[in-house]
Amino acid sequence: MDTTGRIQAEKLTKRFRKVEAVRGVDLDIAPGEIYGLIGPDGAGKTTTIRMLAGVMKPTSGVARVSGFDTARAAEQLRAQVGYMAQRFSLYGDLSVRENIEFYADIFGVRGPERAQRIQRLLHFARLEEFQSRDAGVLSGGMKKKLGLACALIHRPKVLFLDEPTNGVDPLSRREFWDILSDLHIEGVTIFISTAYMDEAERCARVGLMYRGEIIRQGSPGELRQLVKGELLAIVTDDLPASESIIAKVDGVSKVQVYGDRLHVFADDAKLRAPEIERALNAAGIRIKQIRPAAPRLQEAFISLVSLQGKSQKDEG
Ligand SMILES: Nc1ncnc2c1ncn2[C@@H]1O[C@H](COP(=O)(O)OP(=O)(O)O)[C@@H](O)[C@H]1O
Ligand SMILES: [Mg+2]
Repeated sequence: MDTTGRIQAEKLTKRFRKVEAVRGVDLDIAPGEIYGLIGPDGAGKTTTIRMLAGVMKPTSGVARVSGFDTARAAEQLRAQVGYMAQRFSLYGDLSVRENIEFYADIFGVRGPERAQRIQRLLHFARLEEFQSRDAGVLSGGMKKKLGLACALIHRPKVLFLDEPTNGVDPLSRREFWDILSDLHIEGVTIFISTAYMDEAERCARVGLMYRGEIIRQGSPGELRQLVKGELLAIVTDDLPASESIIAKVDGVSKVQVYGDRLHVFADDAKLRAPEIERALNAAGIRIKQIRPAAPRLQEAFISLVSLQGKSQKDEG
């Protein structure tokens, strides 16, 4: 089987002095797949990506990209992998174009192909008009696109992006994803960590990372279906008071404040909605809205993490 573009990990583990940051992670990602890694801060996403991209050695276990052991075959790996670190740095006093040229030098991109590739990347990243501007004065969104262009100079088969759109406005995030779609069409394998659920929804598969482990993996739809029960969205004139009242209603498993509303998980939304209404009315709380809602990946994640927490407690 052709392994070009494939990402594999077996029992990948990284221990820092006190912390086991990554614990026995197994992965098998097909060439051309978009794989999303989500999880709270400190879950181990960055450490996982560093090992997969070959910039950090695992304590134990093995990772392969395009069949090359990422801890041993550094030379071959370099040609395969593009890596945009969570805190990548650009040269602020070099222009957009000079930054890309700098990466072209590092990766030994020479000859007639060099100018052609740089031109193509500038176009690809929608940075043509800004090529002479100092990288230091670019907007956050443009910096990210430039970082991406730099990571692509040697035409890698596999791209690792560590929270590439963190802190970027929604419009720039969408544009960034348009570029990723183009790369996907070209057949590049994309491994991306993100804190944004809407981005996870755009991946073919998502892994949920928690305390160094991938606790669930599947398509966004599959993960959503793992959420137990049904979801009600409720708006009242007193959310904090409503929260504790609803939590006591039979069949309600969880209540979360979600912006200006409450998300209520119940075994049977139709049955429990009138009971919740009665309880709130009895407390003198006015209900502005109560309706069934589809759980999103965000809820799926929280629900799965709380299940995981419970089972760990049961074991311990
Ligand atoms: N170089 C390091 N030395 C010591 N501990 C580290 C190092 N890098 C990460 N960690 C710890 O490993 C855990 C996972 O971190 P990280 O991989 O950055 O998670 P994430 O990217 O999901 O936020 C955290 O507890 C973090 O403090
Ligand atoms: Mg990180």
